[in-house]
Amino acid sequence: MNYLIKPLTQGFGAEIFNFEMAEGLNENLTQELIETWNKAGGLIVVHNLNLSSKQHISLSKHFGPLFGDPKEDPLQDTVSRYIHPDHPEIYRVSNQVSKDGIPRGRKGAGTYWHSDVSFRERPAQASLLHAKTIPPVGGDTIFADQAAAYDALSDGMKDLLAPLFAWHDFEVAARTQYSKPVVVENDMNGANCARHPLIRTKPETGRKSLFVNPGFTSHIDGLDANESKAILDFLYQHSTQPQFLYRHRWAEKDLLIWDNRSLMHFAVMDYPDNEPRYMERCTVIGERPV
Ligand code: SIN
Repeated sequence: MNYLIKPLTQGFGAEIFNFEMAEGLNENLTQELIETWNKAGGLIVVHNLNLSSKQHISLSKHFGPLFGDPKEDPLQDTVSRYIHPDHPEIYRVSNQVSKDGIPRGRKGAGTYWHSDVSFRERPAQASLLHAKTIPPVGGDTIFADQAAAYDALSDGMKDLLAPLFAWHDFEVAARTQYSKPVVVENDMNGANCARHPLIRTKPETGRKSLFVNPGFTSHIDGLDANESKAILDFLYQHSTQPQFLYRHRWAEKDLLIWDNRSLMHFAVMDYPDNEPRYMERCTVIGERPV
């Protein structure tokens, strides 16, 4: 197939033009896409992709099992109201509300640095977000390359971080990013809390990344609160420097596929409610971080 791949930054990300799925996805094509994704450090933008919800799910399943698939774990209960009524594998992000007052998706989803679902024993691997409706300007999503951020640390800091583990807890976001009536208290009973290494290695490439995020990481295991805060604050400041970032300006029908194992992301909510934004996301269940 004659599609065109262009790099998005010096360090990571690629955009793909003229990618056709008219005859459906064959195994070779998906393998090519996954290879391109790995080579691009876990971020690809496929432009102008007509994708039904069913095709979106079937493409996503090539990356791995999906949260919400009836055979797999769902996302946390708090977001169940945003799941597509006909497709439990699709999480909807939107500022739109239907006539009967029911949200068409989570408004302001991910408006903080995070890695999807890092609070589970098996956090998200890929997220595949398809833009259905976007505002004329604004609503960009920013990505931070945590492999490059790791590489840029001194050897002394790498040695210091290597043996450390951190706790990731949905409660951190629930208390700061969600309004009280929306949060399902049951989500705070331990099922959404996990301990992961601060540095993880991507099995497919052997590349190491920082794996902590302000959205869900509560503290570093075994350190005093002040010690933990000092290290995490340093890492967040370090890993969100401009040289590690790519800011995506969406076009309708863009499909973004990012790797939560090596990237954090931040959804910028700078558009008004009367400018609709509607996106559908499939989220792949990854391996236990090592
Ligand atoms: C998310 O965190 O998955 C939402 C990203 C976005 O809406 O841009």
